[in-house]
Amino acid sequence: MTMNDALLPDPKESGLTPAEIRQGLKTSLLGRGRIDYFPAIDSTNLHARRIADEGAPEGSIVVADAQHAGKGRRGRTWFSPPGRGIYLSIVLRPRIPPAEAPRLVLTAAVAAAEALLAQAALPLSVKWPNDILIGGKKAAGILMEMRLAGERISHVVIGLGVNVNTPAEEMPPEIRPIATSLCVATGRTFSRVALLRSLLEQLEQWYGLLQMGHFERIRKRWLELARIVGRRVTIAGVDCTYAGEVVDIDPTGFLILKSPDGTAQRILAGDVSMIDTPYPPPGPKAPGNSS
Ligand code: BTN
Repeated sequence: MTMNDALLPDPKESGLTPAEIRQGLKTSLLGRGRIDYFPAIDSTNLHARRIADEGAPEGSIVVADAQHAGKGRRGRTWFSPPGRGIYLSIVLRPRIPPAEAPRLVLTAAVAAAEALLAQAALPLSVKWPNDILIGGKKAAGILMEMRLAGERISHVVIGLGVNVNTPAEEMPPEIRPIATSLCVATGRTFSRVALLRSLLEQLEQWYGLLQMGHFERIRKRWLELARIVGRRVTIAGVDCTYAGEVVDIDPTGFLILKSPDGTAQRILAGDVSMIDTPYPPPGPKAPGNSS
């Protein structure tokens, strides 16, 4: 038996069909109504945006076993091999003004991190705004897409990709140095359906807090998971690169950066590189939400 065989998912492992997802699912909204499942699709986010535009209710989800045009942030692609990962998109209709949408990005990141920590004691951290790293390499990513209707949010699609049972040698060489999976990080395989349920359950809890006006709890947990305050970073924005020391996340979810000249900047999104020595990885922590 090769190392690769040892890491192959158990063939008896459940799939991700709607019936399997609903079995034992502890949510009252997410995944309770419409679940669109595809053995393979271009992108679950594309499909979710389509059905949201057609009126799919909040909590509808789209799941695939593989994506052939998985989308990442900033026009990147998301490597989505069959049967190895979670490719999930969730339709939400939040009652928050568009200006507060960055809060939702942080909410999704906290929920995803908690769901992964519930599976195993992982050296996990959140990289602003919403990458999930294990041992400093990316294991999960979130792509949030929003549709406005005048002054309000019509819907948001939260797309979650998690590298679950992907062996390192199956990853494209260009992402191997920066990507990992749960199985690479721990040496064992994981039940994708159990993790998917946990993602839905965690997101429902943290989203509930957001809707009830408790963003401060989400912000606090995000800061614990990211351990970024006080660190010097560079951030590649859409048009320029920012450098400075992270001061805080503000109440709307923007990153506050103190530039070398002492001025403060509010930054919405970008790619962060740490330029100081990383903190030691966090010890295993019991899932911190108790909503
Ligand atoms: C990123 O970190 O760049 C975001 C990656 C998001 C990937 C997920 S996989 C499910 C959903 N469908 C997509 O096409 N993208 C998101």
